[in-house]
Amino acid sequence: MKIRVLGAGAGGGFPQWNCNCDNCRRLRNGQFNGKARTQSSIAISTDNRNWLLFNTSPDIRAQLEAFPAIQPKEGIRDTGIKAVLLIDSQIDHTTGMLMLREGKPLNVYCTEMVKQDLTSGFPLFNMLKDYCTVNHHPIACDESPFEIPGIDDIRIYAHALKSKAPPYSPHRHDPHDGDNIGVIVEQISTGKKLYYSPGLGEIEPHVLQAMLNVDCLMVDGTFWTDDEMVTRGISQKRARDIGHLPQSGPGGMIEVLNGVPNARKILIHINNTNPILDEDSPERKTLDANGIEVAYDGLEIDL
Ligand code: MLT
Ligand code: MN
Ligand code: ZN
Repeated sequence: MKIRVLGAGAGGGFPQWNCNCDNCRRLRNGQFNGKARTQSSIAISTDNRNWLLFNTSPDIRAQLEAFPAIQPKEGIRDTGIKAVLLIDSQIDHTTGMLMLREGKPLNVYCTEMVKQDLTSGFPLFNMLKDYCTVNHHPIACDESPFEIPGIDDIRIYAHALKSKAPPYSPHRHDPHDGDNIGVIVEQISTGKKLYYSPGLGEIEPHVLQAMLNVDCLMVDGTFWTDDEMVTRGISQKRARDIGHLPQSGPGGMIEVLNGVPNARKILIHINNTNPILDEDSPERKTLDANGIEVAYDGLEIDL
């Protein structure tokens, strides 16, 4: 299967429009060895023509324009996007559906909790009825395998994660299974597997089990430290409070990934404050030394 990173940034992207943090400022001033990143989304295909989108970012227009393999090929209206799978209902993962309103009915795979958010706090599904309509296909979080019509040779398993429903959600402070999911994406004919989990607050046993059983990990790379936004005077919110496991320190993502010997390890959904964006930083060198990659827009993986 081919995996294309459409956007490797967290909410806000990099640089973020109103952010004057060290990373954003230096990138704008041309004093930064590192890449800009749009907001979080990947696409997967087994034939380089029919694509399953994971999340729809507010930056989707630019992401599709930068990616010829997903663009119209025949007829007056066409797209390589055959279906959308939503990992959660966060603004950075769902707003792009508004940009897809010119298309045919959208086949959207998501959990019941995500559907609730997208028909209440952020009623995208209701709004899109008058444009293209949304066909909702429910996802269970019990790792029961399912396939997606139009996406050949791919089987998906989803499980619940401890992360967070979005700030706007009616159940932000009342967590439910299905607010956030991790997915294993398997190519049936080859048995190759990806684990994708851009918002991962806690490594529960079933998460570790999934990590140990795949060939490639694309996991939460939002923050380096738990207090990253606090120390920069941006917010009082700590990484773990908003459902993101930081990379450094005891129990952090580096330690977790070091316990997974056999997979390719890639961090994704990187917040603009994260020092790993700077390719000259000691934090980035620590990742290099641990065999951990940092996703960037346009990265393609052949698995
Ligand atoms: C998150 O994952 O916590 C988000 O990036 C927050 C946001 O979109 O504002
Ligand atoms: Mn996010
Ligand atoms: Zn910034």
